[in-house]
Amino acid sequence: MKDILTAPFVEEMKRTTANMYRLGWDERNGGNISMLLDTEEVAQYLDVDAVIRTIPLGFDAYPLADRIFIVTGTGKYFKNVEFDPENNLGIVRISSNGLDAHLLWGFSDGGRFTSEFPAHLMSHIARLDVDPENRVIMHCHPTHTLAMNYVHELDERKFTHTLWEMCTECIVVFPDGIGVLPWMLCGTNSIGESTACKMREFRLVVWGMHGIYGAGRNMDEAFVLIETVEKAAQIYMLTAHLPRINTIKDNELAELAEFFGVNYRKDFLDL
Ligand code: 13P
Ligand code: ZN
Repeated sequence: MKDILTAPFVEEMKRTTANMYRLGWDERNGGNISMLLDTEEVAQYLDVDAVIRTIPLGFDAYPLADRIFIVTGTGKYFKNVEFDPENNLGIVRISSNGLDAHLLWGFSDGGRFTSEFPAHLMSHIARLDVDPENRVIMHCHPTHTLAMNYVHELDERKFTHTLWEMCTECIVVFPDGIGVLPWMLCGTNSIGESTACKMREFRLVVWGMHGIYGAGRNMDEAFVLIETVEKAAQIYMLTAHLPRINTIKDNELAELAEFFGVNYRKDFLDL
């Protein structure tokens, strides 16, 4: 058996959480990440049938039965993951009936997965339905995106449109736009269901006055989606109070999307 601390998926969680912390997206215990793993790869590092503890999920995740995830712990700080992965991360296998998570490694102080695991797993189910290659769900509190939530209408067409105007590349990076939810109580099945519903249509979902969710086929894809939104939101916040003299016009946004061959939300433009 290989040493789990050398596994690429543990390394990737360490690197990504440290990076997100330093970008200021994950203060204190803010944010969480889950990544669907390949069972055969995990089996090189762990006995996938050796269960340390069983933790009820609180909802039915049957479509993910027997699938294995690496996930950040609830109340754990992203800044600490790289120094103590075994305490701050966990590897869990969803039980065959979909109702529990079997802990295979991690959460060594008796902790458990993020309180947003329902939102993550429901989003995994939704994304896998529309993209069987989706692997990562990422949540964080990026500063400028959050600031924008307080001064911009929380309407997904308007929110997406404003961000598309802020950087030339935005419409190419997230042509599918951004889903937007109103403020809701976090850590609940209800916000999980609403997030998953949006995830059928979007890879990015804003949680009003809380943060953002990103989905991707790998860690980089989820990360760069959020990174691009955050950059655009920063430009919006740097300019929103100033007279706008120039803007990228809707016909130019369409020209960009068509030149780069992306399938964009035409109904989010006024053409
Ligand atoms: P957890 O510590 O449970 O992951 O919660 C952090 C968070 O961002 C809640 O939305
Ligand atoms: Zn949060």
